[in-house]
Amino acid sequence: MVALNRILTVEEMKAVAQRRVPKMFFEYADSGSYTEGTYRTNESDFSKILFNQKVAVNLEGRNLKVKMLGKEIAMPVAIAPAATGGMQVADGEIKAARAAEKYGIPFSLSTMSVCSIEDIAENTSAPFWFQLYVMRDRDFINRLIDRAKAAKCSALILTMDLQILGQRHKDIRNGLSTPPKFTPYSIWQMMQHPLWCLRMLGTRRHTFRNIVGHVSGDHDLASLSAWTASQFDPTLNWADVKWIKERFGGPVIVKGVLDADDAQAALDNGADAIVVSNHGGRQLDGAPSTIRVLPEIVDRVGHKTEIYLDSGIRSGQDVLKALAYGAKSTFIGRPMLYGLGAGGEAGVTRVLDILQKEIDTTMALCGERDVANMGLHNIYSNDLPPRNAPAPYSR
Ligand code: FNR
Ligand code: LAC
Repeated sequence: MVALNRILTVEEMKAVAQRRVPKMFFEYADSGSYTEGTYRTNESDFSKILFNQKVAVNLEGRNLKVKMLGKEIAMPVAIAPAATGGMQVADGEIKAARAAEKYGIPFSLSTMSVCSIEDIAENTSAPFWFQLYVMRDRDFINRLIDRAKAAKCSALILTMDLQILGQRHKDIRNGLSTPPKFTPYSIWQMMQHPLWCLRMLGTRRHTFRNIVGHVSGDHDLASLSAWTASQFDPTLNWADVKWIKERFGGPVIVKGVLDADDAQAALDNGADAIVVSNHGGRQLDGAPSTIRVLPEIVDRVGHKTEIYLDSGIRSGQDVLKALAYGAKSTFIGRPMLYGLGAGGEAGVTRVLDILQKEIDTTMALCGERDVANMGLHNIYSNDLPPRNAPAPYSR
């Protein structure tokens, strides 16, 4: 057993999670679509950006706090919505939400989480954000929005990049189904991890509790792609942002934007903030990394709204690079899931500790005392010219 405080990087946390979580669930987290090219590029493009070191700057009294949607948070990191947190470890989403609450950063709950909206509300006290997938059954969507309101969710994240599911080969090979199905092969995988099994036996939360028993046709066991094809609404469009926002009555964050025109359209239809995201490389394989497209989206709409970035953040250095290019804050998906798999709530807390330390140290060595001051002056990016606008971003 590795003590969590000996884990020094997100990469090491991933290796521990891989040992502790049954293969089908670990690989569900650690996969991208088709060739996984975008999944890899998300990470490798960050490493092409270099920091500008500054010395002889007073570094006392440093500040990592920023605001998201007007609320101050402890550092520019939020927990991304991710399906099956509760399969990485029993009651996973509750554990991640508690870690986020103690840290003072936002937690987002996926429509396809194992723990329900009500489970999170009952087990935490900070307001959380709810991520909405729009299904064909509109009555269900209305009820889901109402449940998020009743649970006092303070923002809705509307994910626009998953009307159909990108194919992940590992899930097909592992026979991953929705809800997770008990076959001889999956049971065999689970039996390799007795501690995981023991914890799972200790909870009643084993299925997609926001959905099961609520949406029509949810009882069918099917592959994840067949299930999403039958349930998700392929007609989702910009006009939907309006009625969803009206029904919710609070801020709506549009997630899954990679194109400046789309960012503008999201704003025109009422989005309060935008997440530049390629779903962690799980949807359009061949899409650019998010750090590559961020500058042109910031150029277009950054003066009108808050822009956040996710996909490929593995360190505090990555967070700072996103901020330097104009993101107000970032989200982490897999780092949180690896923390859950490796050590539950304490594992997520450890991931946040690692990121916080990396942000603080790196920001200081760049000569900044306030994370909000990160800008283009802090980076070199000659290897990563943004599409259409190379000049202002290289030096
Ligand atoms: C996701 N993501 C996601 N997004 C969303 O809006 N609703 C969801 O249910 C899920 N589910 C999900 C499951 C898993 C296993 C992963 C890895 C991701 C995408 C997520 O919110 C985020 O965009 C990415 O995870 C960001 O990339 P990194 O941080 O994982 O590289
Ligand atoms: C995924 C979905 C469910 O990425 O968001 O698997």
